[in-house]
Amino acid sequence: MRTVEISPPAKRYYSVVPAPTSTSSPTGSETATIWREESSAAEPERLPLRNAWVEINLAQLRRNFRLIQADKPAALKLMSVVKDDGYGHGILEVARMAVEQGATHVAVSTLHEAMILRDAGFKSPILLLGERHDSELPWCAAHDLTVCLNDATTAEALARAAARASKRVPVHVKVDTGMARYGVRWDAALPLIEFIAREKSLLLEGVMSHFSQSDEQDKGYARLQHGRFLEVLEGMAAAGIAVRHRHICNSGGFLDLPQAHHDMVRIGILPLGVFPSQVCRRIEGIRPVMTVKTRVSGIRTLHTDECVGYGMHYRAADKRRIAVLPVGYGDGYPRLRNKGQALIAGRRAPVVGGNAMDATMVDITDIPEAGLWSEAVLMGRQGHEEITARDVAQWKGTVSYEVLVGWRSRLPRVYLDE
Ligand SMILES: Cc1ncc(COP(=O)(O)O)c(C=O)c1O
Repeated sequence: MRTVEISPPAKRYYSVVPAPTSTSSPTGSETATIWREESSAAEPERLPLRNAWVEINLAQLRRNFRLIQADKPAALKLMSVVKDDGYGHGILEVARMAVEQGATHVAVSTLHEAMILRDAGFKSPILLLGERHDSELPWCAAHDLTVCLNDATTAEALARAAARASKRVPVHVKVDTGMARYGVRWDAALPLIEFIAREKSLLLEGVMSHFSQSDEQDKGYARLQHGRFLEVLEGMAAAGIAVRHRHICNSGGFLDLPQAHHDMVRIGILPLGVFPSQVCRRIEGIRPVMTVKTRVSGIRTLHTDECVGYGMHYRAADKRRIAVLPVGYGDGYPRLRNKGQALIAGRRAPVVGGNAMDATMVDITDIPEAGLWSEAVLMGRQGHEEITARDVAQWKGTVSYEVLVGWRSRLPRVYLDE
């Protein structure tokens, strides 16, 4: 039996949905339970599932984590990167699965993301990546967040906030080894590390860096960065400073640079079943967790020389059968012109014209089985065909990461565990 659970990016309006027997959705047996906060009704009001949604396959997510666990050295710790709503898959669902499957830490980018996890009762260590404004530091201390530190000024302010809260805040020092984004430069890192090691209200728990190019064929720059990271670790050893966690690898580094694993790796995209690049693919059985679906909501006939959609970007050369899909750039589907495909009845239907905020038209002339409310896959597998995040990324001229996080929250997330 299909279990259906719908959740938005944390703390929104949807919740678990056993399909009610009294009302049935026009699109199938599922309904979303909409928790309308302003509603005074004792029972939450149920709305039908929208005809466009994102399916998250929790069983595959679990399998991916297990395959990663089986692949890695036993002592290597996993930090699961769940920023940006778990790369669009649901921050709570991915974080919970990660911990269930052995991750010791999760990482997020914003205080808000960390608070979503804490508010939901998530107890595991949460590393806040990126920069911290002074106003956020008391929150970090109060909610036992682990803070990534880049500079002495923030370190001093965090030490004061921690002391005020009578807490010892765990800290990971971020070392910039060549990404030139966050972090203290590798050749200036030691004084900051020594300062943090001396501070009573801070616990120097980790030293970390980040690769800018771990998933390319040419690992030259990654090796240079790793060499700089090693210099910092050697400096610490010479100064007698011990640290529990040392980490520089993202998914690409985990897959391709075992010499850089140290004690911990921070992986985001890999457990979601998407490889960081075409040349950085390893581990049999890793499969995508996310599928984006919709249903044909209209069928039209175009006669020779007639156009479809905004801007007259497609003109029929002969008689064409066109399906309207109720999804558009307002849902995160890239704004493409005569580019891209959807899968219907296991076949590829090309996008015709330019898509709109709420609608995309595809040519189903060669798919006679396609009818009103036929299921269409915008990203994922249907029958023997598959549209990958990379395919969508190529149409859009971007990377798979942006495609995953780009599906907007007005597409309900339907969680399946089968
Ligand atoms: C600092 C940091 N560590 C780790 C990751 C995870 O990277 P990936 O999704 O390639 O595993 C990211 C993602 O952007 C990151 O910014």
